[in-house]
Amino acid sequence: MGSYDLTLIILTLALPLLWWFRDSLPFIGGKLREAVASKTHSNGSVKPSVDHGDPRDFVQKMDRAIVEFDSICCQGKRCVMFYGSQTGTAEEYALRLAKEAKSRFGISSLVSDPEEYEFNILDQVPESNVLFFVMATYGEGEPTDNSAAFMEFIMDPSVEFSKGGSTLENLHYVIFGLGNRTYAYYNEIARKLDSRLTELGAKRVGERGEGDDDKSMEEDYLAWKDGMWESFSSTMGVEEGGAGDVPDFSVTEVNAHPADKVYHGELSPRALIASASGSNTPIGSYDSKNPFPAPVLTSKELFAVGGDRNCVHIEFDITGSGMSYQHGDHVGVWPSNPDKEVDRFLSVLGLAGEDHRHAIVSIESLDPALAKVPFPTPATYEAIFRHYLDISAIASRQTIAFLARYAPTDQARDRLTRWGSSKEIYADEIDGPALKLGEVLQAAVGDEVDGEAPFNSTVWPIPFDRIVSLVPRLGPRYYSISSSSKLYPSSIHVTAVVLKYQTTPSFAHKRMPRWVFGLSTNFILNVRIASSGTNTPVEDHSLSNGVGTLGGESPSAVSLAKMPKYKLGGPRGHYIKENVYKVPIHVRRSTFRLPTSPKVPVIMIGPGTGVAPFRGFIQERVALARKAKEKNGPDALKDWAPIHLFYGCRREHEDYLYAEEWPQYAEELDGKFNIHVAFSREMKKPDGSKVYVQDLIHDLRADLAKLILDKRAYIYICGDAKSMQKSVEEELKIMLGEAKGGSAQVEGVKEFKLLKDRNRLMTDVWS
Ligand SMILES: Cc1cc2nc3c(=O)[nH]c(=O)nc-3n(C[C@H](O)[C@H](O)[C@H](O)COP(=O)(O)OP(=O)(O)OC[C@H]3O[C@@H](n4cnc5c(N)ncnc54)[C@H](O)[C@@H]3O)c2cc1C
Ligand SMILES: NC(=O)c1ccc[n+]([C@@H]2O[C@H](COP(=O)([O-])OP(=O)(O)OC[C@H]3O[C@@H](n4cnc5c(N)ncnc54)[C@H](OP(=O)(O)O)[C@@H]3O)[C@@H](O)[C@H]2O)c1
Ligand SMILES: Cc1cc2nc3c(=O)[nH]c(=O)nc-3n(C[C@H](O)[C@H](O)[C@H](O)COP(=O)(O)O)c2cc1C
Repeated sequence: MGSYDLTLIILTLALPLLWWFRDSLPFIGGKLREAVASKTHSNGSVKPSVDHGDPRDFVQKMDRAIVEFDSICCQGKRCVMFYGSQTGTAEEYALRLAKEAKSRFGISSLVSDPEEYEFNILDQVPESNVLFFVMATYGEGEPTDNSAAFMEFIMDPSVEFSKGGSTLENLHYVIFGLGNRTYAYYNEIARKLDSRLTELGAKRVGERGEGDDDKSMEEDYLAWKDGMWESFSSTMGVEEGGAGDVPDFSVTEVNAHPADKVYHGELSPRALIASASGSNTPIGSYDSKNPFPAPVLTSKELFAVGGDRNCVHIEFDITGSGMSYQHGDHVGVWPSNPDKEVDRFLSVLGLAGEDHRHAIVSIESLDPALAKVPFPTPATYEAIFRHYLDISAIASRQTIAFLARYAPTDQARDRLTRWGSSKEIYADEIDGPALKLGEVLQAAVGDEVDGEAPFNSTVWPIPFDRIVSLVPRLGPRYYSISSSSKLYPSSIHVTAVVLKYQTTPSFAHKRMPRWVFGLSTNFILNVRIASSGTNTPVEDHSLSNGVGTLGGESPSAVSLAKMPKYKLGGPRGHYIKENVYKVPIHVRRSTFRLPTSPKVPVIMIGPGTGVAPFRGFIQERVALARKAKEKNGPDALKDWAPIHLFYGCRREHEDYLYAEEWPQYAEELDGKFNIHVAFSREMKKPDGSKVYVQDLIHDLRADLAKLILDKRAYIYICGDAKSMQKSVEEELKIMLGEAKGGSAQVEGVKEFKLLKDRNRLMTDVWS
């Protein structure tokens, strides 16, 4: 029998069976078909089906919820909180608004990702309901990925809604924007959306709120929300006195749970299956919902030994993971909390004993539309505090105020109330000294804060469900990938400067100034030390240069004594094997890319760790150059355009990143690559001030302007958004204005805007 006959027999038997079961097989006729059909709607173009509960129809969901809940709550109202969020902050604020709607007015809300809904039905939202938009801004005033389609739809000048009209007189909305004043387009998305909705006839409830992530997000939110709720109450005709303080979650200890179903820090269900079966590598594709535990191939210190700072170069092996990346992408690194903070929190909650810390809890949401369980369970308390909750962040004023009700002593209650009720006192005593929540609770009762684990803290009787509601989920930190996949297809390189900073004096630390350590960068430093087994600059007392001493101690000595220590073994100890350490990572795509043709000139500006993606860019060109030479011989780069890198650091022999690599790249690129370095603490301008990258650009402005205006050069800026980006952009405007025979303010600004609009000026900046 040939293969043709065999195929025929299989088809004859299988087709009737498939037809018979067509409605229950998702891949032909069942549920998936509906889902796929609704997913293929373009925003606004197709009227959604309302027959079977269209998952993309939020109006229907609101209606159903009102019918279900109206008899017991809601005062006939319903809210949907949409969040435009990239890294979770806007989602957190949307949740907080939803919780407050419930506790103040008894109104149940949907907290929703705009990506999951159709918006052509905005004209069907009943007037008694309110949509909340909690929107972050990114890039150059861009929306987040999950709100891009919605913004495109609503901003369309010829927008049309489901009933054929183009107005939204029925719609009531509340808007809170998240942004950062160090960026040029501050809170652009919230502002744009607000004026567009108003233009379409919708009615805003209260003022537009704007939070500044650089300084005062929490305070901006707190200052805005009470006025907004007042307007909400009067506009919507609802009375305060709702459900009061209701829990979001129910927590049950489930100690008899099968061991292989208990989370010990695994970041996804697939990770648990792999981990419980003795492997550490979850199957499937890897992304932010299922990070890949990547083996560390190699790591090294990039700063000179003996200094007071660290910068770690670390390479992650992605062999066999199916993960890929391109130059300019970001990698998310998932840190855990340090031992000391885990112990502190367990101790404050009375969970530090062996029997408690390994107890297993299962958590369920009491209102899944309002509050998703933020991490996988059942899990041990220890895993929750080590891997899932961000207990290392500065305690928020609202959380402090809320927890006063659980204070074990009058003094502690008074202190929390004082810190929680005054913005100024909070800034002075909590935010300035950067106190974590565990530290705040210890300090309030007068416990030793600065001691070492194991702590013997006064126990706070805080129900565990409140901790789950109040403490944010521990998330990844993003790094600009510093390699090119053309040279390193199976590894991802990261260049991370280790964060430690001094705070203002804290009463909790006997008014002594102290160091605070960044969570993820010190985790990476711990991994580096453990996997390489070599000393780092901070460990070497004898070489300390004594610069910037603190309370009589050199920074090196302080760092050595206080540097947080982390358990690197990961869930079930699978992250260490034969001295190879693993770190969960995932790749985030970016649009920060080189032009395809090497004949287009490139100008890169990246002082400090801002140089990270540019190492990847140069490697990308080196890979291309090797290929070109192989194909076309030694003169292959003859007509390549110049590549300029403006880099800055403090001193040549202290923090010059990848100093030994750049000359090699220049050689391979036949001199097309030029690096210009500003050593800010070695070079001086005639007036005695420091030399920065923008000064080097100024010196070469005539040549650079020609490359930009005549040769259509691409410009890239990476690194510090707070001050460097602004100074460099000012310099570019001066240069362009001058080259156009006019001023920075008029011609310079105009050319600068053109470059941005045409995506020839791109930024990858952070603050
Ligand atoms: C797109 C993007 C790319 C990035 N690329 C890189 C990169 O290539 N290399 C790199 O090293 N970093 C990079 N970062 C920064 C990185 O994501 C982390 O923010 C950084 O490593 C610090 O993380 P951490 O967990 O150690 O610090 P955290 O524990 O998260 O602490 C950071 C917080 O500390 C506070 N803080 C910081 N300094 C001070 C201070 N002096 N005084 C008071 N408070 C302070 C701020 O609130 C800050 O948000 C990038 C960020 C983004 C958004
Ligand atoms: N969110 C975070 O936690 C985080 C993490 C990493 C970095 N950052 C930000 O990124 C920045 C870069 O950090 P880094 O450690 O990589 O670099 P860095 O070593 O602090 O600075 C690199 C070089 O840039 C110079 N510089 C300072 N201000 C400048 C300006 N306005 N214009 C141009 N050059 C300037 C510095 O000079 P001098 O020092 O001599 O003035 C130094 O020579 C930091 O300042 C910080 O704001 C933030
Ligand atoms: C890479 C990057 C770019 C940003 N660009 C802007 C911007 O152009 N304008 C602005 O107001 N805020 C900007 N921000 C600040 C964010 O909007 C702010 O941090 C916000 O809290 C992020 O919310 P999310 O965690 O929900 O994504 C930027 C932040 C980052 C990390």
